[in-house]
Amino acid sequence: MSKKQTYLNIKKLKEQIEYHNRKYYIDTQPEISDHEYDLLMEELIHLEHKFPDLITPDSPSQRVGGSPLKEFKTVTHRTPMLSIANTYSEDEIREFDARIKRNLTGKNVDYVVELKIDGVAVNLIYENGIFAVGTSRGDGTHGDDITGNLRTIKTIPLRLQISDSIPSVLEVRGEVYMTKDVFSQINKERENKEELLFANPRNAAAGSMKLLDPKTVAQRYLNIFVYEIGYMEGPTCNNHVEALKLLDMYGFRTNPNIRYCKDISEVIEYCNSWQSRREELEYETDGMVIKINSMAQRHKLGATGKSPRWLIAYKFPAKQATTILENIVVQVGRTGILTPVAELKPTALAGTMVSRATLHNQDEIIRKDIRILDKVIIEKGGDVIPKIVSVIKEARTGKEKKFRMPHKCPVCSEDVKKVDGEVAYRCENLRCPAQLERRIQHFASRRAMDIESLGPAIIAQLVEKKLVKDYADLYSLKFDNLIKLERMGDILANKIIRNIAESRNRSLSRLIFALGIPHVGVLSAEILAKNFSSIDQLKKAGQEELEAIGEVGEIMASSITHFFKREDTKEIIDKLEKKLAISKAEPLSDKVFAGKNFVLTGTLTKYKRHQASEIIKRLGGSIRESVSKKTDFLLAGASPGSKYNKAKKLGITILTEQEFLTLIPKRN
Ligand code: IVH
Repeated sequence: MSKKQTYLNIKKLKEQIEYHNRKYYIDTQPEISDHEYDLLMEELIHLEHKFPDLITPDSPSQRVGGSPLKEFKTVTHRTPMLSIANTYSEDEIREFDARIKRNLTGKNVDYVVELKIDGVAVNLIYENGIFAVGTSRGDGTHGDDITGNLRTIKTIPLRLQISDSIPSVLEVRGEVYMTKDVFSQINKERENKEELLFANPRNAAAGSMKLLDPKTVAQRYLNIFVYEIGYMEGPTCNNHVEALKLLDMYGFRTNPNIRYCKDISEVIEYCNSWQSRREELEYETDGMVIKINSMAQRHKLGATGKSPRWLIAYKFPAKQATTILENIVVQVGRTGILTPVAELKPTALAGTMVSRATLHNQDEIIRKDIRILDKVIIEKGGDVIPKIVSVIKEARTGKEKKFRMPHKCPVCSEDVKKVDGEVAYRCENLRCPAQLERRIQHFASRRAMDIESLGPAIIAQLVEKKLVKDYADLYSLKFDNLIKLERMGDILANKIIRNIAESRNRSLSRLIFALGIPHVGVLSAEILAKNFSSIDQLKKAGQEELEAIGEVGEIMASSITHFFKREDTKEIIDKLEKKLAISKAEPLSDKVFAGKNFVLTGTLTKYKRHQASEIIKRLGGSIRESVSKKTDFLLAGASPGSKYNKAKKLGITILTEQEFLTLIPKRN
């Protein structure tokens, strides 16, 4: 294909993809299947790969691209990004209307009322219809150039949709936000990875926009609603309703809950109608924005230093109350993070009695200058647990006491450590009772030692009855210990003992992951297992040796060396080394399947498929999905599928499960 023809094809594909993108993400009425969409995208990437100089920034293939930045460039906004003055009552809204009318000498005023989206304000700059630069609000005058991060948001058009009346320059203001669902999902994942949690969806969106690597931003599934044209050269709009229509036509995502109101009574009615309904939305809103419709009137009214005079926010009444902070206690979470918790004088708040509030961390306590015995304002946001908004400092008597994070874990009395680069303090004791259940759950989990029958209820009893004080103790458990547990029978007890024994043969990478070294996930564990042949070798590795492995960064390396330096780790590893087959070095002669390709079919009896695959990989072989001439062995269990016939036809060696088992070298 000629380059000219490729150029035309690429152009057509880009238009098609953006069209279907819009149908899918904005109109939520897809016209083609996901598969067809993927094919278009594949075709585009294929052509761009052939002619890299035809790749343009507005190509859908470029949404997640580029390497991480060192820092953001600062950009001066063409027109300042102002804030909005707040009101809290009907009376204040009427005062706003009266003030406007005085300023406009009695002219009739109509309004547009929108939801106030609780996210982060951004500015999108389009040059000749192409998304050129995106910025954060910053201090209102200067913001950060976060173009790469914004490109990852699929509802931001990379090119304006209609081709006539394209402005030479267009600046669009909008709010990047995270849905409540995505927020809780991401926090769940962060908890599993023992990372600090986001306080709310707005925080999560703001934090994501500050990331320097767009690839990470893409995984945050952010979205946007646009609500204003900040600047436009070319077409003009007479009023806000027209502006929103134009934004729609250009392919932007505007909020569907926008209401034109001919007077202030309609405005108030619409605002009130959202008071109770707002909980139903999939995203958070903290109020309504009331805007004058006419652009000429907006222009006449202008702005004060901080905010335009032509709009106002009506904030929903926050669910707040005042009470006394009686004490601050420290809880140790299941991941070892120490969290200060406020004990409050019980107070009624939004229908319930409240006696506790979260304080997140010490930095927050210092920032808000919260002291024990302070009179505080508490608030119930979207979360069930209330938070302390602020302190009434005027009410201080001098008896208030400052809070310091303890140096010892309140549960196990071990020294606590401030996590580098984070605000959290953490108890790292592998045997800390507050964390033990969770550590053992992790150790036994499917991707770690895969001790199938050892469920959370059993682990809880083992910990409670002090039958295990660390995960290495699992290997000393006897049938007699287990049978005494609640809801335990012979069959289950035997199965647990058997599963624990089987886990002694798990791969080194699984064991490394199972140890629960902070910052070492499944993939890192696999990399470490490739570079060290035993736990013994890994524990002797120094910071430099670890960092020499390409995929291991400074933080992970220091986390690993720190982990193995601990006394409790040493004892537990010693115990494990005595009990486990795998922690001894694997001799190279074990790699009996080196370079061999395996395909699996049918049902195996001794191992699950993934376990068999792992054994093959550990012994140097590879797993392939389908049978081809390159296949060396087909491992066939009971009732094999079509792969069996194909392998037969191609004359490939077919192994029964029994034959396979005889090929696996026995361990000592
Ligand atoms: S209009 C002068 N419309 O609320 C600013 N802002 O608290 C014009 N916001 O900075 C913005 N929803 O980030 C506008 N429908 C909406 C909005 C909205 C949320 C944000 C915006 C602004 C902040 C002020």
